[in-house]
Amino acid sequence: MSKYKDRKVGDTKLKPESMMMSYGYDPKLSEGALKCPIFQTSTFVFEKAEDGKAFFELALGVREKGPTERLGLIYSRLNNPDLEILEDRLCLWDEGDGAAVFQSGMAAIATALLTFLRPGDVLLHSDPLYGGTDHLLKHILPEFGIQAVGFPAGVPMGELENELRAQIKGKRVPAVLVETPANPTLGLVDIQGIADFAHSLGEGADRPVVMVDNTFLGPLFQHPLEHGADLVIYSATKFIGGHGDVVAGACVGGKEVVGQIRTLRTFLGTAAGPWTGWLLMRSLETLKMRMTAAMKNAQYVASFLVDHPKVKSVHYLGLIQDADPMYDVYRKQCIAPGSLIAFEVDGGEKEAFEFLNALQLISLAVSLGGTESLAEHPATMTHSDVSPEDRERLGITPALVRISVGVEHPEDIIADIDQALHAIGAGKKAPAKLAEMKAAR
Ligand SMILES: Cc1ncc(COP(=O)(O)O)c(C=O)c1O
Repeated sequence: MSKYKDRKVGDTKLKPESMMMSYGYDPKLSEGALKCPIFQTSTFVFEKAEDGKAFFELALGVREKGPTERLGLIYSRLNNPDLEILEDRLCLWDEGDGAAVFQSGMAAIATALLTFLRPGDVLLHSDPLYGGTDHLLKHILPEFGIQAVGFPAGVPMGELENELRAQIKGKRVPAVLVETPANPTLGLVDIQGIADFAHSLGEGADRPVVMVDNTFLGPLFQHPLEHGADLVIYSATKFIGGHGDVVAGACVGGKEVVGQIRTLRTFLGTAAGPWTGWLLMRSLETLKMRMTAAMKNAQYVASFLVDHPKVKSVHYLGLIQDADPMYDVYRKQCIAPGSLIAFEVDGGEKEAFEFLNALQLISLAVSLGGTESLAEHPATMTHSDVSPEDRERLGITPALVRISVGVEHPEDIIADIDQALHAIGAGKKAPAKLAEMKAAR
């Protein structure tokens, strides 16, 4: 670890956003370069054979690290300075002791799950999940004898416990995977509630590892480790990368749990490369600004949509009411509502497509969390592989559109949404909602 660990100015402990430019990087090791170079190398030279032997012993867990010993660089499938520094920086946002970076969010999820699950086990999970995760859990893992038992987001834990205990009775549950807010409905799961329940199922080696996919709000607006989770997982393709130009994943948690995952990462070969690590470090420097700006824009967009005549319903965390059964959970675990909005147009797939096809500024593309606003149709795109019954049960309807609000000027985003809503049902003119809003300001 570099001299920048726990950097303070006087008595002031520096906040994560102040550390993203320098933490974990020592210019002396790179010819004084201000920024960390890209260590584009597949392997690293050992000074002597004894070093190589010692590094392998530590990497493979053959023996514990000595008090002053550190794991040296070996080979870029195991470690690389761009990944190690990035991992140190990711720990700061979630206050984890360890992090691991992957080639994609799916690589992070798959590697984390396979670290703990074995044939005959149950994986408890929330529903809905991102479509790729849903496919992994419901189609791939069962082929390895792993049963996925789901429970719906948006329902308080107290109402789920008895049913879940009955379903998993007598089976080993080594892992729980929660996606909150859920993609695409933004349904919430009580992280502390599910962690308490899971941790009541077993102790020691039988204690389930509670994993939270924090892609929608983290790492700025939700910190699952503070609420009893053992591991936070990210599609770093989204807010962490934030510019729509990189695919990556990450997990952050306790040293022990992340250490086990890193070992499997080595043997599955799912680690990200140095170029990805460098891009993500660059992105982290502006993470707070980007996420804050997009969240502010989303608040405008949600309030524009909420009583638009062509919009049937709006899912946005900033609109959650105190009568909602998950209101207290929102207040407890979410710092801000983020920038994802899902809404139903008045109609079905045809009307949703008319809206999407009419967009001019907002791109019609899957993915989210970037600087640019994106819109997509979950039922036929990201969640098309979810069974039709599950889609209906979970509210992924043909009329549902998901928007990831970016950092453009909010009036421009709203103008685009307004004209695209007007384009639904050719010839039918809806009141000019944008003009009304502007006049009211
Ligand atoms: C919530 C969530 N988790 C995981 C993933 C998978 O991430 P990646 O596409 O980086 O593999 C996604 C992708 O959209 C997602 O939305």
